Amino acid sequence: MTDAPEPPPIDLPAGAALPPGLVLRRPTASDHAGVAVIRDWWGLPSTSALPYVLPRLFFQHFSDTSFLGEDDAGLACFLIGFRSSADPRVAYIHFVGVRPDLRGSGLARTMYEAFFAQQAAVGCLRVDAITGPGNTRSQAFHRAMGFRVTGDAELDGVLAWRDYDGPGEHRVAFTRALP
Ligand SMILES: CC(C)(COP(=O)(O)OP(=O)(O)OC[C@H]1O[C@@H](n2cnc3c(N)ncnc32)[C@H](O)[C@@H]1OP(=O)(O)O)[C@@H](O)C(=O)NCCC(=O)NCCS
Repeated sequence: MTDAPEPPPIDLPAGAALPPGLVLRRPTASDHAGVAVIRDWWGLPSTSALPYVLPRLFFQHFSDTSFLGEDDAGLACFLIGFRSSADPRVAYIHFVGVRPDLRGSGLARTMYEAFFAQQAAVGCLRVDAITGPGNTRSQAFHRAMGFRVTGDAELDGVLAWRDYDGPGEHRVAFTRALP
């Protein structure tokens, strides 16, 4: 078997600046071990199963549509996203994380806008994402990024889909038109 093709270059949105010393690149399978930071970055207990929602396959098979940033302190940020195989008009952002000391400086916005541009360029018309009803930070971030919330119930004061991912696994769904 031949080597995988080179991943596409990353075009930053016009006017976007990365924090000093931060290099943004495409992730590879060898970056997968780094997702252990998710518990710290999300403020979850050491027993949280959240890292298992991001298995190695995302770093193997969606590297060309994802981003990972590093600086002198190590892993700085990542966005794991892809274009729907079933409906190529739709793109999906599965995970985004920014190291706590780098938050509030527009880094997640820069990664989202770079993702939007890459997906719009290949004909995607929409970007979707989900989060838990309790993740109010993610909800505020997605609203600021122009996403609309959908759901079929009000759960803990939040519009969400009841049992979306199984019994008791309610989710807030976000959708945003491109460009
Ligand atoms: C959510 C997260 C990715 C945001 O990263 P960030 O780099 O701080 O976000 P940015 O600085 O790019 O902010 C982009 C916009 O979202 C808004 N925003 C970000 N975090 C927010 C918060 N906690 N409350 C309200 N608004 C917020 C910003 O005000 C900004 O709006 P503006 O551009 O209109 O001024 C980061 O807080 C994080 O990693 N959280 C833990 C992981 C998580 O919950 N991920 C999402 C679910 S997968």
